[in-house]
Amino acid sequence: MSRPSSDYDPVEVSPLHADEVEAMRDAALEAIDAAASLDDLKQVRIEHAGDRSPLALANREIGALPPQARKNAGMRVGQARKAVGARLAERAAALQEQQDARILLEESVDVTLPVDREPRGARHPLTTIQERVCDVFVAMGWEVAEGPEVEAEWLNFDALNLGPDHPARTMQDTFWLTPAKAALVLRTHTSPVQARTMLERTPPIYVICPGRTFRTDALDATHTPVFHQVEGLAIDEGLSMAHLKGTLDHFATEMFGYGITTRFRPSYFPFTEPSAEVDLICFVCRDVPGEVETCRTCRGEGWIEWGGCGVVNPRVLIACGVDPERYTGFAFGMGLDRTLMVRYDLEDMRDMVEGDVRFTVPFGLEL
Ligand code: DAH
Repeated sequence: MSRPSSDYDPVEVSPLHADEVEAMRDAALEAIDAAASLDDLKQVRIEHAGDRSPLALANREIGALPPQARKNAGMRVGQARKAVGARLAERAAALQEQQDARILLEESVDVTLPVDREPRGARHPLTTIQERVCDVFVAMGWEVAEGPEVEAEWLNFDALNLGPDHPARTMQDTFWLTPAKAALVLRTHTSPVQARTMLERTPPIYVICPGRTFRTDALDATHTPVFHQVEGLAIDEGLSMAHLKGTLDHFATEMFGYGITTRFRPSYFPFTEPSAEVDLICFVCRDVPGEVETCRTCRGEGWIEWGGCGVVNPRVLIACGVDPERYTGFAFGMGLDRTLMVRYDLEDMRDMVEGDVRFTVPFGLEL
């Protein structure tokens, strides 16, 4: 913009003409007004008010003017720069305000929205089924009893008439703890809680004992080394198989619905005599001819295996300090994992142990 001083006519320096200065100022003001954001405005400030802006360059020319021309030129340029500076400040304030208002809106939090935005899990169905079983029995006046998962060999086997050489011992693939002389196992069934209860309490005894049990099975669709059972034990004067049958029928109805009863098939357990396998009438087809044949739940059987039961063997009563001349009792035990699988048509036992919330959530939030 500045030219060599050889052909330099101070009064004629074009950037200092009133029109030129006004044009520079107007261009600057227009650009400032058009700036849509603080970033735009920064650019405009550099272009129109920065060191290399037309007005700054014009300002520099003033010194080259003859003294009489300097005053006017100085005033013009000064006023123009002042106007630009003022408009810049004004626009910056307005844009800052706009930006603050926008941020306030965009980043605001609606504290009135529902707080439940965290996905919720659900209790494991095995936990809820254990509680439901207990509820059924507590409603009849029974008590809930518990025992340890690491159990004495004697309580898990011997007290239940499963002596060291009893063939049924090998049927229960047992986890033995070391050292062997400690004679400890991971309980293979909940039946030792029967023995514990008889040793700790005096009849009449009515207890229900849900719990975790262990056997050396590999985990697959139908087996798991850690599973759950529920054990029932009643010891009183005059109890018979008839009381057992009535109790289990009531239990079946409470768990599976009206009309669902049980049948007994003769069987053998060392701790009961006589013993029976308990079957549940299929709660889907109810063994109705024409429907049972195609039923997927009982696979056409009409009945579903549920557990074992019987009249408590007098040898067990004696081992646990109960007078068999005065008292009789009945006991039963069933797998809860299996009950759950049958009840909800579950196909793979592994789903129960893998801890995936997609498995538990569909069972809902039972409290
Ligand atoms: N403890 C047995 C098992 O794990 C189940 C059982 C059968 C329990 C008969 C009982 C019973 O109380 O009377 O296979």
